[in-house]
Amino acid sequence: MNFQKEIEKWYEIHKRDLPWRHTRDAYVIWLSEIILQQTRVEQGLPYFKRFLEAYPSVKDFAAADEQQVLKLWQGLGYYSRGRNMLFTAREVEKYHEGCFPVQYEELIKLKGIGEYTAAAISSFSSGEARAVLDGNVFRVLSRYFGIDTPINSSEGKKEFTALAQELLKGQNAMVYNQAIMEFGALQCKPKSPDCIVCPLQESCYALRHKRVNDLPVKLKK
Ligand code: ADE
Repeated sequence: MNFQKEIEKWYEIHKRDLPWRHTRDAYVIWLSEIILQQTRVEQGLPYFKRFLEAYPSVKDFAAADEQQVLKLWQGLGYYSRGRNMLFTAREVEKYHEGCFPVQYEELIKLKGIGEYTAAAISSFSSGEARAVLDGNVFRVLSRYFGIDTPINSSEGKKEFTALAQELLKGQNAMVYNQAIMEFGALQCKPKSPDCIVCPLQESCYALRHKRVNDLPVKLKK
């Protein structure tokens, strides 16, 4: 079995039941991804539910007032995320007739949406073949393939993006993207991952060369 199929098989068995995995609504996925940008899943979950209850559609969000949004945001930190969300909801209401974009090239133009978030929303909502590259994915790829180019260098970004995009070819982007992120979050963890139970142990470069704790490489800036 190849790398991608092993990851997907692992995912089917170990995935968490998270509410944003049951929808293809780009608005709902956007909500979850912005909340999770600098926040752990357990912390973000109640916020996600409260936001969705308060604003079931992007139209409702666009009509909110800023104080109300910031009050709901309380405790999450990085308040610019909340402000950017309101700005973006209003843009979508105005220029996309309340229909949240699903294409990467449209999403990337919106405030608060960078490359990772545009790839996540487009792949999870429409299945567009855009590889997600977050901290989890960098870690899995650098360890498994033994890549020591610093992940926060422009060279590293290029190299990992090309590899991630290549691996996505022929996969179901909706499932595979979730699967590799989940694999990084739960199995290929930053510290002391449990490699003994990893399905990729035989072919993992880092494990075979005792480099698990050295990879990925990050430059001190
Ligand atoms: N962190 C960011 N996006 C996520 C997602 N879709 N599922 C789980 N954790 C995430």
